[in-house]
Amino acid sequence: MARHLITSALPYINGIKHLGNMVGSMLPADVYSRYLRQRGHDVLYICATDEHGTPAELAAKEQGLPVDEFCAQAHDAQKAVYDGFALAFDYFGRSSSPQNVEITQHFARKLNENGFVEERAIRQVYSPTDGRFLPDRYVEGTCPHCGYDKARGDQCENCTRVLDPTDLINPRSAISGSTDLEVRETKHLFLLQSKLQHEVEEWVARHEADWPQLASSIARKWLNEGLHDRAITRDLDWGVPVPADTWPDLAAEGKVFYVWFDAPIEYIGATKEWSDLDPENRDWKSWWYDVDDTVRYTEFMAKDNVPFHTVMFPATELGVREPWKKVDYVKAFNWLTYYGGKFSTSQKRGVFTDQALEILPADYWRYFLIANAPESDDASFTWEHFTATVNKDLADTLGNFVNRVLSFSKKRFGEEVPAGGEPGPAEVALGEEIARLLAEYEEQMEALQFRKAAAALRALWSAGNSYLEEKAPWLEIKTNKDGAALTLRTAMNLIHLYAVVSEPFIPATAATMRSVFTLPDDTAPWVTEPEAKSLTSVPPGTPFTVPPVLFAKLTDEDLETYKERFGGETTA
Ligand code: MF3
Ligand code: ZN
Repeated sequence: MARHLITSALPYINGIKHLGNMVGSMLPADVYSRYLRQRGHDVLYICATDEHGTPAELAAKEQGLPVDEFCAQAHDAQKAVYDGFALAFDYFGRSSSPQNVEITQHFARKLNENGFVEERAIRQVYSPTDGRFLPDRYVEGTCPHCGYDKARGDQCENCTRVLDPTDLINPRSAISGSTDLEVRETKHLFLLQSKLQHEVEEWVARHEADWPQLASSIARKWLNEGLHDRAITRDLDWGVPVPADTWPDLAAEGKVFYVWFDAPIEYIGATKEWSDLDPENRDWKSWWYDVDDTVRYTEFMAKDNVPFHTVMFPATELGVREPWKKVDYVKAFNWLTYYGGKFSTSQKRGVFTDQALEILPADYWRYFLIANAPESDDASFTWEHFTATVNKDLADTLGNFVNRVLSFSKKRFGEEVPAGGEPGPAEVALGEEIARLLAEYEEQMEALQFRKAAAALRALWSAGNSYLEEKAPWLEIKTNKDGAALTLRTAMNLIHLYAVVSEPFIPATAATMRSVFTLPDDTAPWVTEPEAKSLTSVPPGTPFTVPPVLFAKLTDEDLETYKERFGGETTA
C-alpha cells in the first residue's frame, strides 16, 4: 500500500479566508485524508500559511505591527479557524520557518550550480509616489489577453494567464493608484525556466492523462505559451534571504526570494517542521526524497494555482537535480461564487470562514461545501440553497432518522438495542442496497469525485429512511412486536454504519452518532462489504442513548437574517 502525501495550497497569511478558499483546497484535502486514514493508509496531510511577500508587509504596516509579529498572530488566527472546521492536518506550518529558509536556499544554490539561475540587471517599476519598487502584483492594469481591467502584474485572475507588469495596459500602482510610474534598473536572480521547458513538457506528458481535465488543460496552455525565465528575487525586507555565500552582492542589497519561489518549497519545509518536533519517530525525507512510487502525492488547489503547481514548481524540482518527490495527482477546483458574483472582502460580500463558524457548527458547512464543490464548473453559494440543503439532507434525512429511531426504540423497548427475529426479505434487500451504495461511495472517494461521493453518502442516508417508511415500526409494533424490534435493531445498525462512513464529511456528528452505542472495542475504522450486507455489528442488548438533535432546522427567519447580514443577491 502506497503512503499518501497530501497538501492543500498554502493559504496566504493576509486575512481570514472565505468559504470559496476553504472548498477549493483545505476542506477537500481534509475529507480525502480522513477517508484514506480510515481505510488504513499511511497519510501525511501538510499545510501551512504562506507568509512572505508584499501583502504581509502592507497589512503589518496597517496594523502598526512588525511583520514577523503580524504573521505570528495571523497564523494563529487562521489555525484557530481551521481547528474550528476540524481540519485534521498532520501539521500546519509557516513558510517563514527556519526549515523553509534552509530548504529554499538549498534549492536556489542547486539550481545555480546546475546552470538554471542567472543574475540579470532588470528595469523594474518604481513608484515615486509610494517611494518604492512595486512588486508585480502591485501593478494593476488591463490584461492584454482578455481585457480584464483589474489584472495584476503577476497574473490575470480572469483568464489565469501569467503576466509581466510591463504587459499591462494602463498600469497603475495598486497601493496608491498612482499612474506616475517609472522604470529603474536593479539586479535580480532569474530562474531559467526556458531551459527546462522540454523536461517539464515530458514530465507533464507522463502525468496529465491521470489528472482532471481542469489541471491538465491549464498546464498545457502554460506550456504552449512557452516557459519564460522568471525573476525569483524581490526588493523586500520580509522573505527568505538570498544566501550570501552564493550571491554576496545581492545579499548585501538585502534581496529576498520571491514569495512564489519559497511557498511551494514550504510543502517540504512544513514536513521538516513536523519532523523536527519528534525526530525519533518522524522522518521528513522519507516523504520527499528518493521515494519514487512508494509515496503517492496529491495536491489540492483552486484553478488559479494550477500553473505554479503543474509547471513552475515541477520545473524548480527538476532543475535541482535531486530526487525530490513530484506531484502525482493535481486536484483542481473552479470558483465558488456568492450569488454568481465574486466573494469580496472590500464590499463585505460573501461568507468568511470565521463568520461561518459563528453561525453554525463546522459540519453544516463541511457537508454543504463538499456536496456542492465547484468541481466540473463554478458553483454558486446562496443562502437559499444552503438552508434548503441543511434542512433536507442533514436535518431531515440524517438527523431525523437517528433521533426518530433511537427515541422510539427507547420508548418501546428501553435503553438497549432490541433483539427481534431473523432478518427477512426487507432486511436482505436493504443490506444489498447499502453494500452497493457503500461501494459507490468508496469508488467516488478514491476517484476524488467529491460531489459524487457526497451524493452516494446522501443515498446511504436515504436508504435508511426508505426502509423505515416501508417497515413503519410505529404501526408494526401494534401487531408484531418482534418485527418492530428487528426493524429498529437494523435501523440502529444503519446509524452505526453512518457514524463510520460519514466521518470524513461530518466528523463531529459522526463521533456523536458513534458514541450513542456502548459497544466494547468499537474501533473498526471502516465497514466491510459483509458487514454492510448483514447490518449486525451492533448486537441486541447494546446499551444506547438518545443524542440531542443532530442538526437544527433552519427557519425562514434564519434565512432572512443571514441574507441581511451578509448581503443577498448580487450581480456578477
Ligand atoms: N498563497 C497562495 C494563494 O493563496 C497559494 C500558495 S500555494 C504554494 O494563492 F504552493 F505556493 F504554497
Ligand atoms: Zn486576462
